[in-house]
Amino acid sequence: MEKKITVLPGDGIGPEVVTAAVEVLQAVAKKYEHSFHFAYATIGGAAIDQHNDPLPTETIELCEESDAILLGAVGGPKWDNNPSDLRPEKGLLRIRKHFDLFSNLRPVQAIPSMLKSSPLKEEIVQDVDLLIVRELTGGLYFGDRNRTDDEAFDSLTYTRPEIERIVDNAFTLARLRRKKLTSVDKANVLDTSRLWREIVEEKKAQYPDVSVEHSLVDSTAMKLITAPADYDVIVTENMFGDILSDEASVITGSLGVLPSASMRSDNFGLYEPVHGSAPEIAGKGIANPAATILSAAMLLQYSFGMSEEAKAIEKAVSNVFEKGYFTGDMAHKGVQALSTNEWTERVLAEIDPAYEKD
Ligand code: NAD
Ligand code: IPM
Ligand code: MN
Repeated sequence: MEKKITVLPGDGIGPEVVTAAVEVLQAVAKKYEHSFHFAYATIGGAAIDQHNDPLPTETIELCEESDAILLGAVGGPKWDNNPSDLRPEKGLLRIRKHFDLFSNLRPVQAIPSMLKSSPLKEEIVQDVDLLIVRELTGGLYFGDRNRTDDEAFDSLTYTRPEIERIVDNAFTLARLRRKKLTSVDKANVLDTSRLWREIVEEKKAQYPDVSVEHSLVDSTAMKLITAPADYDVIVTENMFGDILSDEASVITGSLGVLPSASMRSDNFGLYEPVHGSAPEIAGKGIANPAATILSAAMLLQYSFGMSEEAKAIEKAVSNVFEKGYFTGDMAHKGVQALSTNEWTERVLAEIDPAYEKD
């Protein structure tokens, strides 16, 4: 197949982890006889520096012409005091909204070779296989807001259609898995959460094969690391999903391995690691590229329908962990930490032992 991928490296470790993921995609293309065309554009701080805009029009246009988007991360101290419209993060919010990428899928799987990297007990993290379905284009991130010297507000709004489509999406995904849905809210306090809970209750009649529970976000934060194996699909609003997914990275031992797919209702999507630009390790060549490489696998699976190729990447990553190779964020006692490049080379060798870069 011939496909166009827009690559948005972004800031901090973004370019380093994206380079690794593109190499992996190239190896897959060669092995499976596809032709992937990569077109690069700026977003975030890099785009502010070059175009005074965190999401330049030419970046949007390039994405519109492509079949999928691969993104690194945005943000960094250099831009932290910018006005809100000229912050790197605004570029990310705008691209999500522009393409209506309302469904953010964040899978968390603890494979045996990762267990030693987690600060949690092995018996707690073994068997974890959960999926956080985070609403991505509504809620606090996109509500009315204002700020003066002495007062600020951010408003939290959800409409029925916005909730219905993400809840339907989560039910559908639960059906393809272990058929258990946990809807996370703060219905004891927030009206948006009460509406959310009502809609989940209404919808469940349409999915009688899926078991449903409601769970308040504060106690869910506790249960997510005391009994993570109890979860299958978790559906929640934008801000709660942001926080719970970083928390869930404790299960795997590092934020550096959690991938994500931000999807709209057709198969178009933006694929990016859950983690950020990690400015304090940027430029050192030590970032863990696994999250971005696994995001590339999600891209192949969801946007291109290439299941075999996606599985080949996942298998390569898990084999590299299994053989005891880790970057510094996951290297436990007695294990030598590999650089981003060294670790990526191992993944490439797993995909195709005969692979040679062009
Ligand atoms: P972060 O995810 O960048 O880093 C949190 C911690 O995890 C740091 O200790 C970092 O070194 C480590 N880490 C993250 N990814 C790693 C990797 N691949 N390999 C090894 N270690 C890794 O979060 P933060 O420090 O709170 O935010 C830094 C900047 O990133 C901020 O400007 C924030 O707005 C931005 N951010 C961007 C995105 C995104 O682009 N999607 C996501 C989150 C944060
Ligand atoms: C993420 C990030 C973003 C978010 C920021 C950078 C806007 O934390 O993708 O998880 O909060 O959605
Ligand atoms: Mn986040």
